[in-house]
Amino acid sequence: MSCTAKRNPGDVTVLGIETSCDETAAAVVRGGRHVLSSVVASQDELHEEYGGVVPEIASRAHLERIYPVVQHAMEQAQIGRDGIDAIAVGHRPGLIGSLLVGVAAAKALAWAWERPIIGVDHIVAHLHAVSLDTAREPEFPAIGLVVSGGHTSLFAMRSALEVECIGRTIDDAIGEAYDKAAAILGLGYPGGPRVDSRAQRGDDRAHDFPVARLEPGSLDFSFSGLKTALLYAVRGTPTGRGAGATFERDATHLTGPQIDDLCASFQKAAVGAVMLKLDRAIGQRREAGGEMIRSIIIGGGVSANTRLRSVAQALADRLNLSLHLPAMTYCLDNAAMIAGLGCLRLEAGLVDDLSLTASPAGLY
Ligand code: KG4
Ligand code: ZN
Repeated sequence: MSCTAKRNPGDVTVLGIETSCDETAAAVVRGGRHVLSSVVASQDELHEEYGGVVPEIASRAHLERIYPVVQHAMEQAQIGRDGIDAIAVGHRPGLIGSLLVGVAAAKALAWAWERPIIGVDHIVAHLHAVSLDTAREPEFPAIGLVVSGGHTSLFAMRSALEVECIGRTIDDAIGEAYDKAAAILGLGYPGGPRVDSRAQRGDDRAHDFPVARLEPGSLDFSFSGLKTALLYAVRGTPTGRGAGATFERDATHLTGPQIDDLCASFQKAAVGAVMLKLDRAIGQRREAGGEMIRSIIIGGGVSANTRLRSVAQALADRLNLSLHLPAMTYCLDNAAMIAGLGCLRLEAGLVDDLSLTASPAGLY
């Protein structure tokens, strides 16, 4: 496959495409971190009435939107195909029908424009989001934390490209727990931002919700106990089990201030659980000796959370580490993180070919 004239590393320019879930996104990034354009077409309004993402609706919407979204990203970046060195695409993990639309579009462009195609892991890209549109690059080795709708994972990072998963959730992801909490409280979809904003008005000592520790030394996470504790606090103890269970009451009896208190108490436990394991991971690395951890890197939709951002800063200050969080626009799914990591992979010679496949399963 032919390539454009070789550019300086800082000038490598990549078009990124992201369609792993319910955002259709395209972006152009130069040198790994300068975002020339970032377009995100959200499908929230299509899924809201179902209370969650409907895979068939998501893939159909991606199909309708991918071409205009890519065109818009190219126009916004004021760039033509000659200015693009490679096409990067989020090819795992995610909803297979959604991923396939992005991968097919990326392949078509790579073939037509005679450029390399680069498959990018969506989860690793969330960690790279901290380097977008900022001069503050993280120093490595770092501990990475991805907190999203589908993942809650800890990473030992030697660089933006070399990551090793050292902890993951054994049940729900933290974002999923937020979305379920919102559903239990009747706050609608997407739940995370709504619970976050209600929490800011509430008393976080109103309810004592559990923070899962798991076995001593474990770096894994669990959120199903927290979700159940919230459900019982709202609806009382159930009679029967599973889908046939009946509760003492529904959520309609709750007053506004009671909902605020439940959100604040839930948020305290959810954020406390991820901070506990982040702290533990850094402590374990320090005790083991070896190379010193220099930074904490946090990415994924829940990194937009106000409490998580402030508690993480306090933890980093206490441990004397530099904290790197994405700018708010790059917390949620976007294609700039895909294009940015794509630039680094291109510079490292980590390119794919047209046999690239989409994979619903993740590595982490
Ligand atoms: O990273 P993301 O856009 O998609 C996945 O890769 O899953 O994350 C979406 C998740 C949703 O569960 C959403 O409720 C959550 O991030 N989220 C938040 C906030 N903003 C988004 N959760 C808590 N607080 C927020 N402010
Ligand atoms: Zn994501």
